[in-house]
Amino acid sequence: MKGVVFTKFLEMVESSFGFDTVDTIIEASDLPSGGAYTAVGTYPHTEIVSLVSNLSKETGIEVPLLLKTFGAYLFKVLNSSYPTYAEGVTHPLDFLESVEQYIHVEVRKLYPDAELPNFKCKRVSANELEMIYTSARHFEDLCEGLVRGCLEEYGHKDAEITRESLPNDSEKFVIKI
Ligand code: HEM
Repeated sequence: MKGVVFTKFLEMVESSFGFDTVDTIIEASDLPSGGAYTAVGTYPHTEIVSLVSNLSKETGIEVPLLLKTFGAYLFKVLNSSYPTYAEGVTHPLDFLESVEQYIHVEVRKLYPDAELPNFKCKRVSANELEMIYTSARHFEDLCEGLVRGCLEEYGHKDAEITRESLPNDSEKFVIKI
């Protein structure tokens, strides 16, 4: 997983819980990298799983909620780091449909070693989108957070996101605005 995900995660933890918590979870996670991340590096995605799990132990907040909160934060960071992807996109569901077809394609060109999920999208209507998420890393909660962050960015914070696990190990998200 790209270092930017780790640096932004630790930045969020520091601003929400303070530097001592960052230090504690890095120590507790016994990370192969030692926790010294650079934005351009690549690290095992299991390290973020350990960090989130130790943050949960430390704060008493459940892992899924931490991942969703981080996903929404990460969306805002990514969107402002790569402003061209949103250029001319006025509808949040158009933006979400473009993640598989365009954004992650461009991300893959920039970082050939990026570990990206697969999305199959179906636009049910102007205001409803189905996204089937498949990833060996199973970041469904992070994904929900990224979707939520996108909806918030477009002023649809009350939009509805429903989820269903499919028998083939994928997760169906239905987003209605
Ligand atoms: C400006 C928009 C976006 C950019 C630039 C972007 C870029 C990236 C990057 C750099 C990664 C890390 C890859 C790695 O660690 O190797 C990533 C992962 C991921 N992205 Fe995006 N992304 C964007 C929007 C979204 C949105 C809106 C969603 C949800 C629909 C999404 C879903 C994911 C998920 C779930 C992962 C984690 C990897 C996995 O599940 O296998 N991304 N993205």
